Amino acid sequence: MEILRSIVVLVHLVGFATLFGAWMVELVGQRRVTRIMHWGLGIALVAGLALSAPWGLDHDLNYAKIGIKLVVLVLIGGLLGAGAGRLRKSGSVPAGIFWPIGILTLLNAGLAVIWR
Ligand code: HEM
Repeated sequence: MEILRSIVVLVHLVGFATLFGAWMVELVGQRRVTRIMHWGLGIALVAGLALSAPWGLDHDLNYAKIGIKLVVLVLIGGLLGAGAGRLRKSGSVPAGIFWPIGILTLLNAGLAVIWR
């Protein structure tokens, strides 16, 4: 059970790496919102929800932290949607949409590792 939970944590981290890595590529590139960012967010969400149930654990979960992470993820999802729409219409993503995607992703990773 513990090993299975570790594997789901690994999948969750793959989601984070995919979202943040794709954002970093665009940061030094054309600053678009890409399909791979949506994939990373989806992977992080599914694995995060699976980890939110208390299985394979010897400690209690921090549900305040998990709730805030879920709200932040929904915000990122909204920004990805808005950014994709603007990209389609005008060919670019405003800085006010592009930057918060990366910052909020990093915030969620920070919450995960700093707030125990
Ligand atoms: C962009 C969104 C997210 C990012 C970047 C992110 C990042 C991370 C990272 C880096 C870890 C590993 C922490 C560690 O084990 O030291 C983690 C663990 C975890 N995340 Fe997320 N996460 C995100 C979204 C979510 C969501 C939406 C949920 C649940 C609704 C969630 C629930 C969890 C849980 C339950 C753990 C394991 C905590 C534990 O076992 O103590 N995450 N997350």
